[in-house]
Amino acid sequence: MRCLLLLASLGLVAAENGLNAWLRYAPLPRGTYSHVSLPSDIIALNSSQTSPVYTAGQELAKGFEGIFGKHVSVSHKASKASSCLVVGTIDEYEKSYGKLKNAPELKDDGYWLSNKGSTIQILGQNERGALYGAFQYLSMLAQGDFSKVAYASSPATAARWVNQWDNMDGSIERGYGGASIFFSNGLVVDDLTRAGDYARILASIGVNTVVVNNVNANVTTLSTENIKGLGRIADVFRPYGVQLGLSLNFAAPNTSGTAIPPIGTYDPLDPKVVAWWTNMTELIYDAVPDMAGYLVKADSEGQPGPLVYNRTLSDGANLFARPLQPHGGIVMFRAFVYNLLNESDWKADRAKAAVDFFKDLDGKFEDNVVIQIKFGPIDFQVREPTSPLFANLFKTPTAIELEVAQEYLGQQCHLVYLPPLWKTVLDFDLRVQNKPSLVRNIISGERFNHKLGGTVAVVNVGTNTTWLGSHLAMSNLYAFGRLAWNADQDPQDILQDWIRLTFNGNPTVVDSITQMSMESWPAYENYSGNLGIQTLTDILFNHYGPRAASQELNGYAQWTRADHDSVGMDRTLKNGTGYSRQYPDEIYNMYENIDTTPDNLLLWFHHVNWTHQLHSGKTVIQHFYDAHYDGSNMAQTFVPTWETLKGKIDNERYNDVLFRQTYQAGHSLVWRDSIVNYFHNMTSIPDKHGRVGNHPWRIEAEDMELDGYKVYQVNPFEAASNANAIVTITNSTTGTATTKLKFESGTYDFAVNYFDQIGGKATWKAYIDDRLVAEWIGNMEDTLGHAPSPYLDSSSAIRKTWHGVKIKKGDTLKIVGKADGIEPAGVDYVSFLPKGIVD
Ligand code: GCU
Repeated sequence: MRCLLLLASLGLVAAENGLNAWLRYAPLPRGTYSHVSLPSDIIALNSSQTSPVYTAGQELAKGFEGIFGKHVSVSHKASKASSCLVVGTIDEYEKSYGKLKNAPELKDDGYWLSNKGSTIQILGQNERGALYGAFQYLSMLAQGDFSKVAYASSPATAARWVNQWDNMDGSIERGYGGASIFFSNGLVVDDLTRAGDYARILASIGVNTVVVNNVNANVTTLSTENIKGLGRIADVFRPYGVQLGLSLNFAAPNTSGTAIPPIGTYDPLDPKVVAWWTNMTELIYDAVPDMAGYLVKADSEGQPGPLVYNRTLSDGANLFARPLQPHGGIVMFRAFVYNLLNESDWKADRAKAAVDFFKDLDGKFEDNVVIQIKFGPIDFQVREPTSPLFANLFKTPTAIELEVAQEYLGQQCHLVYLPPLWKTVLDFDLRVQNKPSLVRNIISGERFNHKLGGTVAVVNVGTNTTWLGSHLAMSNLYAFGRLAWNADQDPQDILQDWIRLTFNGNPTVVDSITQMSMESWPAYENYSGNLGIQTLTDILFNHYGPRAASQELNGYAQWTRADHDSVGMDRTLKNGTGYSRQYPDEIYNMYENIDTTPDNLLLWFHHVNWTHQLHSGKTVIQHFYDAHYDGSNMAQTFVPTWETLKGKIDNERYNDVLFRQTYQAGHSLVWRDSIVNYFHNMTSIPDKHGRVGNHPWRIEAEDMELDGYKVYQVNPFEAASNANAIVTITNSTTGTATTKLKFESGTYDFAVNYFDQIGGKATWKAYIDDRLVAEWIGNMEDTLGHAPSPYLDSSSAIRKTWHGVKIKKGDTLKIVGKADGIEPAGVDYVSFLPKGIVD
């Protein structure tokens, strides 16, 4: 019992599987709050169980119980007793308690929070605002912050939406954290407990809408049965003030499977189509009376849209906007519209597409249309300039689309804390008409005087108890909500709140996770794509591992135009695609001119020789080499940094994160070697520091003596050291690779680069003079969650290390690999690394 209390005081009790995210209400150490007087009662000024005010009362009681071990009862009748906490709308409060002195100015969803008087007031502009205020108060308490405050807070953007890309069959597009919590087998799931839990988490960070289905929308979401199901989802969202949003398929009126029979056309100007959507909207509102609105991806990546009928994109958006108007709903219409292009055309540029498609439509949209714009002009790359469309729509409200799902950024298997990247866009000043025009003030509606505006994130929450498949990735979801509320916050401050709430306030814990997280985006950018070249993942397949060549020679137009001599997209007006001219003058001038273009976007805007000198003084190619070594070295340090937390957080999460950080450290080397080898091979320019292609501690598997293994040429070549690996001769046999060690006797770190494909669970054993030193199994497709690969490539390549392995010069290393399924126990190389060397 004493032991339990002690553990409880450290916040280490219940199973920490991640389900409660940052809402754990872990007990604070007793001594820290003895001076604080806690309220004796909670008065929640609404007794209806579906009301967010009711939820706020319950949540506060739960928080007091968890944090302080104190039972505080909740009542719903106003009383004048002192030392109570009152939560409700300002209107309800004033009915019972009289006019608030100095009533605060609040926008929709805003709140007033004061613990200065004898009564704690948590008062919302609306019910939802009251709940947000309660969560904010709980966040303070859970972090041991007992300061006296009295302030009003309102959200910057009205629409704070998450977009789940969930399919009706239960899969999630770009999902790495398990199956959908909403759908399975074509239907809404029966048990919506997780959907309710999700709403709770989102409400705590001020998110007010979840679009539950994929932008690549399946029409059967609109079947009679599924519309009822959507009603059930909305029911579990409602107590948290979260509204349901719906992605639509533009061709639905022409497709069977929905609640209304097909009418043979989806032309947005055909009265039959207008009537169809009006009727459909009524049916949906019957089931979901508080639906927030629609999200539409039209004429994009194969999705149908108005252009099919030679109608405009605004005709398309307005088709949905009008039937939503009587219900107060809005249309989020996506600007992600582009055509496939031909690389042989020097002036072709996908980055220009959004402005080309939307600029002239400004003023043609209904008032309840918001244009949802990805933060950069291409597609969630590791670094992009701000989308110029934000500076080209004045009469139309806009929303920024961010991606919590780390589609191109390590798929939640690499730690990448994204807010510093998002802030490069949110804080970017577009200088429209030479006036301050920060993106965050454009999307809030402030800059161009709109009431609407939004901050949106694509989120891939799934059934995994960690929600995203990774505990640390949750900082991105948390920070997204915080920035949607107020983008003028420091990413590190937000992160540290998240750390204290998710783990605890131990200074080592806060410092270590802060350090890793804040270094993580720079590290990832360094070992993936530099100087604005884009991420260099495999863009044709799984968007995960490196495959630089995949950017080229296809219509997706994410070209780097890299060749033996030069690299980069010329997007200038004078010689290139003219993209730079889509920005207002000051920004155009900055990017048009190579001298004023920042190094980190050089290759986005300019085509230069590999030997071009950067502002930093380095050449482009040397920068590539150095960045890849620096970034992967940085990723190595995340492991020991994490290890400082042993015993300071629960073992469950400690081990889980350690596993993932160890994987990232290895995969960052796969990235490093792939990219530097690729460009070294292309340019023939040596690395000034002699590292590239020089691996004195490596033994290539193909150079070992093989029995039952054969040499395999890996594609792309740079996914394997020296382009070759070994695989078993058949898929059901065992192979052996042996070699005599020429390294001096001593203790080494033993590293293996092998391939773990989907479709089998091969096993490997490594012996030194018949002493088993390492064994492993190819099961990472089950344990990691990123999009798997059936091939030997840079997505399936894994590097694993065993520390402190003793060898004698002349010992025999033997690797035995047993194939399974389609996995032929592939091995690329092994390394024996003296202390301090990582290669
Ligand atoms: C990316 C992503 C797709 C997604 C699309 C979109 O291209 O890879 O999966 O459908 O963006 O945002 O619509």
